[in-house]
Amino acid sequence: MKNIVILISGRGSNMQAIVRAARSEQWPCRIAAVISNRADAEGLAFAAENGIPTAVVVSKGLSREAFDAALQEQIDRFAPDLVVLAGFMRILTPAFVEHYAGRMLNIHPSLLPSFPGLATHSQALATGVKVHGATVHFVTAELDHGPIVAQAAVAVHPDDTEDTLAERVLVQEHLIYPRAVRWFVEGRLAIDNGLVRVQEEVSA
Ligand code: GAR
Repeated sequence: MKNIVILISGRGSNMQAIVRAARSEQWPCRIAAVISNRADAEGLAFAAENGIPTAVVVSKGLSREAFDAALQEQIDRFAPDLVVLAGFMRILTPAFVEHYAGRMLNIHPSLLPSFPGLATHSQALATGVKVHGATVHFVTAELDHGPIVAQAAVAVHPDDTEDTLAERVLVQEHLIYPRAVRWFVEGRLAIDNGLVRVQEEVSA
């Protein structure tokens, strides 16, 4: 039984999609905790209502290193096999990333390597790309650059706004993130020379 700790900063809709899929598809894992850097993160209520332990680690007054150390201490109380960043809006220190190397996933709202960082939907509209999307990747020290596990594309429409584009991308996020986490839980992800290989499902 693998332990998963999910980090959020806000709404937590990706976290909810993962929790729901884990339950309905009966993954061999436990969502051990949902941890936020913001006490007012909306997703915390969903976690609590679903019987998942929650914790808040606030960054106010802490250096980046001290915050990451406090966060790591909270996370490690739950002995995680996997840490899932689900809209966790903090840049992490190299030491923190190294501690969870090969066992921390992130979802980013663009087709990486295009548009790392913030405001991905406005970047997509400003550059005129016709295809946009979302990426699940392993977290490495370089922001939004780790080995890619899964991607989903959406067409950019001529009349799209940031909001309409974000909405369509989010629908895809809710499909690919649970799928990628499930692959990890099932032990089907291998990193080979910096590239992710997804092993075939073994049929019973
Ligand atoms: C999602 O669109 C996620 O891809 C993005 O924040 C949103 C969180 O929504 N993450 C990033 O931008 C990370 N750099 P959610 O809280 O409803 O899952």
